[in-house]
Amino acid sequence: MKFFVDTADTAEIRDLAATGLLDGVTTNPSLIAKSGKKFLDVVAEICTIVAGPVSAEVTANDFDTMLKEGRKLAGIAKNVAVKVPLTVDGLKTCKALSDAGTMVNVTLCFSPAQAILAAKAGATFVSPFVGRLDDIGTDGMKLIEDIVTIYRQYPAFRTEVLVASVRGPMHIVESAKLGAHVVTAPASVLKQLFAHPLTDKGLAQFNADWKKTGQSVL
Ligand code: G3P
Repeated sequence: MKFFVDTADTAEIRDLAATGLLDGVTTNPSLIAKSGKKFLDVVAEICTIVAGPVSAEVTANDFDTMLKEGRKLAGIAKNVAVKVPLTVDGLKTCKALSDAGTMVNVTLCFSPAQAILAAKAGATFVSPFVGRLDDIGTDGMKLIEDIVTIYRQYPAFRTEVLVASVRGPMHIVESAKLGAHVVTAPASVLKQLFAHPLTDKGLAQFNADWKKTGQSVL
């Protein structure tokens, strides 16, 4: 399973990249706005921090402009994955960019039917939003189960399931159990994966007992 961080905060990205466990980054217009930086500059900077895919989202809603924006974003660095919304024009853009060899992340996926279309359009990634489905009282993880099940029926589909709108560690654990390829989560959620109170307690005990020995490894 690959871990992407869902942020445009370069300090957070550097911090996580230092763990050696970060496989990529996803951004969206809301995260770019939050960063307060210029879109193209921050994408270029992120692409120098991580070698894996960095999603950068188009801002237009029509095919012609989306395609132009997508080509410009793809020109920033080899590891840019152009993010397009799951609309008719977004999928047309996905097909055109994918045919030209550009990685594409189809975002705002909320149904299995939409995920089938993304795969047919040649998406590198499809991003189902589990948290936002939970927010409206439905089961976000059921969507992941459905998409993974459908994609497994068709080995010709190369699209990876990128679980997005992740709100906590259990979304990640459940995604792993279902065999989702990628999760993208805020840095705060990825950091929660490391933590367990019994790890802290056990380490404190080991440290105290080791001190009693008076020994040193080095
Ligand atoms: O980047 C897309 C997605 O992860 C957004 O998550 O928390 O705004 O629903 P959220």
